[in-house]
Amino acid sequence: MSLLDAAREVRERAYAPYSRFKVGAAVRGASGAVYRGCNVENVAYPEGTCAEAGAIAAMVAAGETELIEVAVIADAPEPVPPCGGCRQKLAEFGRGATPVLLATTSGRTLATTVAELLPGRFEVAHMAGVEP
Ligand code: THU
Repeated sequence: MSLLDAAREVRERAYAPYSRFKVGAAVRGASGAVYRGCNVENVAYPEGTCAEAGAIAAMVAAGETELIEVAVIADAPEPVPPCGGCRQKLAEFGRGATPVLLATTSGRTLATTVAELLPGRFEVAHMAGVEP
């Protein structure tokens, strides 16, 4: 199964009673294994979590800390761009050139990268000189 199909499948399980906007994400770890996540909303709206965050959490829980490919899918007119927080989360575990495929359920796709999504990202080098 492709990474996009994995994202498409897990999207069905999204818990999105408030926005009614279901999102599925899948990330491939450096081992080749695929981890999936969907958005999980909450009646206290800010407590909801994005699909990308869920997929990353599943990857880390399985013992991996490097992702080599990402796919995100939603039922939208245009491929949905990850939110700012998710861009920083993807940047934590991916490289700049890591491919990110954004897709709609109707078949539109946009191929991008972690660096394109988050240019000038905050990274550990910016903390050089700070004593631990
Ligand atoms: N959402 C995601 O899960 N990922 C994205 O990339 C964009 C937005 C979710 C959060 C919320 O549950 C719903 O979509 C509407 O914002």
